Order: sequence, then C-alpha cells, then structure tokens
Amino acid sequence: MHLTADEIITLKKQYFYPNSMHFYKNPPHIVRGEMQYLFDDQEKRYTDFFAGVTVLNCGHSNPEILASVKRQLETLQHTSIIYLTAPMVTLAERLAEKLPGDISKTFFCSTGTEANEGALLLSRMHTGRKGFMAFEGGLHGRSHLTMSVTGIPMWRIDPYLEEAVYFAKPFVVEDVPVDVSCEASLQSVDEILREHGHEIAACIVEPIQGNGGMNTPNQSFFKALKKRLEAYGVLLIVDEIQTGFARTGSFFAIEQFEVVPDIITYAKALGNGIPIGAFSAIPAVAASFNKPSASTLGGNPVSCTAGIAVLDYIEKHDLCQRAKTLGEILRKGLEALKDKYPIIKEVRGLGLMLGMAFPADGGAVIIDEIIEKMKDRGFIVGKNGLHRNVLAFQPPLVVEASDINDMLTALDAVIGEAASGTF
Ligand SMILES: Cc1ncc(COP(=O)(O)O)c(C=O)c1O
Repeated sequence: MHLTADEIITLKKQYFYPNSMHFYKNPPHIVRGEMQYLFDDQEKRYTDFFAGVTVLNCGHSNPEILASVKRQLETLQHTSIIYLTAPMVTLAERLAEKLPGDISKTFFCSTGTEANEGALLLSRMHTGRKGFMAFEGGLHGRSHLTMSVTGIPMWRIDPYLEEAVYFAKPFVVEDVPVDVSCEASLQSVDEILREHGHEIAACIVEPIQGNGGMNTPNQSFFKALKKRLEAYGVLLIVDEIQTGFARTGSFFAIEQFEVVPDIITYAKALGNGIPIGAFSAIPAVAASFNKPSASTLGGNPVSCTAGIAVLDYIEKHDLCQRAKTLGEILRKGLEALKDKYPIIKEVRGLGLMLGMAFPADGGAVIIDEIIEKMKDRGFIVGKNGLHRNVLAFQPPLVVEASDINDMLTALDAVIGEAASGTF
C-alpha cells in the first residue's frame, strides 16, 4: 500500500488526536533507513542528524543488530517475565558491567516514561517520602508523575499535576555564563532542601537536558548536587534516556561528571528502535522494591535481544570513542559557524549530542526555516529548547566525518540565507 505524504497528513488529521504534530511545511514520506541515512518515497536520501530523537545510536536497520533480532523473533517472541527466559537476565548482567559504580539491579519496561515512573516510585518506596525535586528545563515523560517533574511548560499539559514537586532553577540560562547559572541553580537547590528536604524522596535530572536545548552543566555541578542531596537523604535519579549508550562519548553521560547516582533510567538507544526501557539502582535502594510488580512486555526476549546486540555493537565498534572524535569535528564546525554568524548564540553539549542556540526571542521562526531548508538539501536536523530555539545534532554514532562536513557546508549556506534575510 503506497500513500503520499499528503495522504498521510490527511489520515493523521482524521484519525489521530489534534495533539499530533510533525516537523516541516512539506514533510517527506520516509520509507526506508540505512545506518545514518533515511530515504523518502521518491528515493531521495537524507543524512539523519536526529536519529529518531536519539534512538538510532547504532544506525537505521543496522544489519548486525537486525540479524540477532530476527533470529529471536523466529525463535521465541514473548512469554513475560513470570516465565524463565535467558535474554532478560543476560541483558541485566551485561548492563551491570556498564552501569556506574555498584548500580546492578534492573527492572525492564518499554519506554522512557515508564522507566522514570518506576524510578520515582522506587524512590518513594525506599524513603517513605512523597515529594520530588526536579529542574526547570528538564523533560521526563508523559505520565502523571513524570509530567509533574517535567520542567518545560509546553509538555506540562495535565491541569492537575502532582503538587509536591519543587523545581530548582535551570543550570543553563541563555546569555548567562554557565558557572553563574550553575551556582544560581545550586543555591535554589539549597533553598528547596532547607524548606522541604525531609519531604523529598528524590531529585530527578538529565545530565544534559536534551529537549530543554542541550543544556549542559559545568564539570562540578553534579558532585555539588549529590553532596547536597546526601545531606538530606534525598536520592539522585539520573535520566539517561537521551544521553545513554555512547551518545556523549562515554557509556553514560553522568560518568563524565564523576558521580554515581542512586538510580539511573534509560530507554531509547538501548533498543535501537525496538521498544525497551529500564531503571537500575544500587542494591541498597533496589532492596526496597520488594512488593510484587511486573510489566507485560518488560523483559521481552526480542527487546532484550536487541539490547544485547546494541551493547555488542557499541563495544565492537567503539562507539564511545567515535562519538568523542566525530563530536569534536562537529563541534569545531558548529563553533566556526557561530564565529561567522552573530545570530548564533551558543554551541553546547557533549560528544555527538550538540545544540546550536539561536535567540530565545524569534529563534523558533528562524529554526523552522533552517530545518526546512536543510531537509530540502538532504539533511534531517532536530530542534528543541525552552523556546524551540535550539538546533539539535544527534546523529547515529555510525555517521562518517564526510557526512558531518557535508552537513556543515549545507548549514553554512542555509544560515547565510537566514542571516542575509533571503529566506
Ligand atoms: C530525557 C527524557 N526522558 C524521558 C523521555 C520519555 O521517553 P519516552 O518517550 O520513551 O516515554 C524522553 C523522551 O524524549 C526524554 O528525552
């Protein structure tokens, strides 16, 4: 069955809720993916710099991963964790080798939202406290609790969100030096803890706020945060749903800040497109999750096999090093554009998770034009940020240096058009 892009839009309008958006005035109908490339129904090739929102770290339809997944699909597709199957425990064991410090206990589910919901629940069970701390600019999911701890106004759509959530000031503020914004953020943490510290079960935070605009704190931020939380017995939940699995140049981004959280959550890239999520905890905290709980599809043999294949692929192809090396090339190119065009405010992020910030005021309009023109030139670039003013570069980690250079050449031309007002 072939549908045109216009027919898909019409059917979306007819059968989806009106909350469903898509990028682009003229969106392509994507029909195929091959590692770092996507193809539309006209066989036009796009180099993907968004990776399905940071999911395809190992590339689209990666043949090595697909081979394992296909074998598992043909052998045993599903039973549920109330029966004994090997992939779920093998994946948990493999993850324990990679997780920071002595984090080693894991609960599998299917999405990032579910992983965070589970982590928040675990922190309540462990501490017996109700409240949470979170950061302005963070995004943690669409369920009641995870939306309640989300600090981006446009994603907080439930009119009856949880009340016992205290938001610390953002650690990145446009036009403010990062050391200054981090200090102000930590001061607000201190204030919250002084007033509510003993009611708070956990503080949830992304190492780099992806949706918030690639907001990256300074090197000392997480150590200072953890110390403050420990003084009040507040657990630290690190949401690695965007940052995990080699994206930032280390297996988990929090490693680069030399902090071991109490609970870590992840999803997206672990399945490389097959739904899987999980939260993992240090044994002392995990011990409190002792009442029966199960997820129908969590621990599914197919998604766990995909996870094992992803870990194998990341190790075999040293994707951490690749993200570091290629991230440097991308960063240098983006910085050079920033020096050339005053309209670009900042380049930020780590590894192959980089953002290019435009002015908060008016940046969103410019960005929409840029991503449209980049798409026309064959490059899929993302957008995010509190004001939708940040271009997002999170390509599959299998991207080549030549792809990056081609994208930078196109971006230079497109931003040049924006800067000279010829859009
Ligand atoms: C940091 C972060 N946490 C949580 C989520 C929610 O994950 P999911 O959409 O898989 O439920 C997202 C989704 O983009 C995310 O970026």
